[in-house]
Amino acid sequence: MRYVLFLIALLAAAPAFAQPAPPEARMLLPVPTQANWGRSRFTVKPDFTWQVFTPAQTAATPAADSAVAEAVERLVLPVLLPGRPQANRRRASPLPTAALVLQYGRPGSLLTVGEDESYTLRVTPMGVALNAPTHLGILRGLATLRELASPTKSGGSTLPEVDVVDAPRFPWRGLLIDAARHFMPVSVVKRNLDGMWATKLNVLHWHLSDDQGFRVESKLFPRLHQVGGQGQYYTQRQIREIVRYAGRRGIRVVPELDMPGHATAWLAAYPRLASNDSTYGVAPRWGVLNIAMDPTRETTYSFIDSVLSEVTPLFPDPYFHIGGDENDGRQWRRNPRIVAYMKQQGYVTEKGLPDKHALQTAFNRRVLALVEKYQKRMVGWDEILGPGLPASAVIQSWRGKKGLYDAAKAGHQAILSNGYYVDLNLTAASHYAPDPLPQDAPLTPEQQKLILGGEATMWAEFADSVIVDARIWPRTAAVAERLWSPAQVRDVPDMYRRLALLSPQLETLGLQHRKAPSQLLLQLAGSPAAVLPLRTLAQVLEPVKEYKRHFQGFKYTTQTPLNRLVDAAPAESDVAREFGAAVDKLLDYARSAPAATRFRDANGRQQLTSLREQLLQWQTNDALVQPILQQNSLLQEYAPLSVNLKTAAALALERLALLEKGQAPTAAWQTAALKQLDALKAPAGQTELAVLPHLRRLVETK
Ligand code: ACM
Repeated sequence: MRYVLFLIALLAAAPAFAQPAPPEARMLLPVPTQANWGRSRFTVKPDFTWQVFTPAQTAATPAADSAVAEAVERLVLPVLLPGRPQANRRRASPLPTAALVLQYGRPGSLLTVGEDESYTLRVTPMGVALNAPTHLGILRGLATLRELASPTKSGGSTLPEVDVVDAPRFPWRGLLIDAARHFMPVSVVKRNLDGMWATKLNVLHWHLSDDQGFRVESKLFPRLHQVGGQGQYYTQRQIREIVRYAGRRGIRVVPELDMPGHATAWLAAYPRLASNDSTYGVAPRWGVLNIAMDPTRETTYSFIDSVLSEVTPLFPDPYFHIGGDENDGRQWRRNPRIVAYMKQQGYVTEKGLPDKHALQTAFNRRVLALVEKYQKRMVGWDEILGPGLPASAVIQSWRGKKGLYDAAKAGHQAILSNGYYVDLNLTAASHYAPDPLPQDAPLTPEQQKLILGGEATMWAEFADSVIVDARIWPRTAAVAERLWSPAQVRDVPDMYRRLALLSPQLETLGLQHRKAPSQLLLQLAGSPAAVLPLRTLAQVLEPVKEYKRHFQGFKYTTQTPLNRLVDAAPAESDVAREFGAAVDKLLDYARSAPAATRFRDANGRQQLTSLREQLLQWQTNDALVQPILQQNSLLQEYAPLSVNLKTAAALALERLALLEKGQAPTAAWQTAALKQLDALKAPAGQTELAVLPHLRRLVETK
């Protein structure tokens, strides 16, 4: 314990903490529970050393130590010491002599939901101390340490003086990756696990089967991956490799095999599972098919039993997800044999009609018994909630908050995903707002304990392995903060400020959310010169929201290449959002500045000039980009949007000119301009102009 005294001495020598945070230092995302910033810095130099102290030796210590060492070496040192990432590890010694000293009390139990992930991180001018009760806390603190570093000219970095005390708000902080709709190769999953580590997410929910694919190698039923997966699947060895990779980053892996609906890939491989005599191929299109397994036959359950006997041992996690969503029971109602079974079993409504819910609950109970036979807890989407479902089932609420609360009231553990659907191309702010446990949650303290946390969901109908990072990051970090940080951390502009700092850091981890869309634009433009005007347009486009992309006349199949401008367009346009903030600032200024000096001071002039320059760029971009759009058949459909951008910018420039002169627009001009702007909203190529609402605010100002 002598080194503890040494650390105390070291910290006592540091200048007083509790300084207001220097603005450039408040970069952490998620925001920690507590951070007291100092005024000094620690400089990481080429002679930097690090050391791990693990007092309690147990059988699990070597694995925990090597996970910590791997995190330091692979994830943190390349940022602390970009010029020389193989910095010296000092072996344990009586005294901590290294610049970075890590100390944890015991190996954390990764598979225990609610395991201690807390840590303290102290950066003083003399060194860095990261302490945690478990090695999982060390892994979380290392993610914080990585975010603090700024590079120096001499190949090292500097860290701001700070004292962080931190712990998660929720124990279940997940990201669903859908590898069924588009297969996501091992490298894609791994780099996203790194992103999860960086944002302190701790559950990968791996959606492994759906109508369009079954992605797990099965030695018992090889047609599952051969026919159901069309050859695109994870071998059992690859699954173990990913589970191990995740575990070493403190991330659990919960697999999902969706049933009885969303299971066409199973039926394509083994038609005897189907609810009718049809034969199926894996689904070639997207959408809710309402094709379901036959829940009345014993052979269905013996088949599921065998699949679980093979799949559950691949995943050490105690939870197993059975899906259970989006089956309206139409195939059951249309089969006289199944209807007769429902009547015979009493699965009927008060009016005596076949009750699909009762039959699905019976199915869920059978599957739950099988899942429990393999020592797993069953998780399902909120459709499985209902009378007769054993309380041991965990409910994942996607259709609304109600399912979450109903589940907890009925004694189920529950997870929130409603509001966290990052595949819908909504804003980070919209995902940041929903709280699994707001102050007014209608739950008793006991019921509140059943709310485990939440999961962002990346459904992959419109995301392939190339573009998926850009659909997940950086917006998923907003969900990560909601699930980790204290409830009162809710400042939206500050979240965006920190998201912009985090985003490039995520790319240095290997994610491609910025690189991949850039590359796609270059491919579409055909030359580096042509890419500039194309980017100006693409940066203010967003894919149409929610699931509208399915319904705009363009027929997608699972084979449709995701290589159009809509795929390169950001889910949330930073350029549009920042322009919107600049418009609001200018309008505030115009309202509050005295008429005599308005737009004559440097601040007013600067605001006006920068807005005008942006509008002029959009106005003149059309002439530059049209030839590029016309020369590529994949781009032609976007030509009207560029014209619309030009038209809208011209209207905004007119309004800006009047504003500068202090003149009000005529009512006639304004009415006509707003009508024109509304007409420009029509999407093209499944994208829309993200700047229109901001231009409208400018134009409609009195
Ligand atoms: C779901 O989005 N169908 C769970």
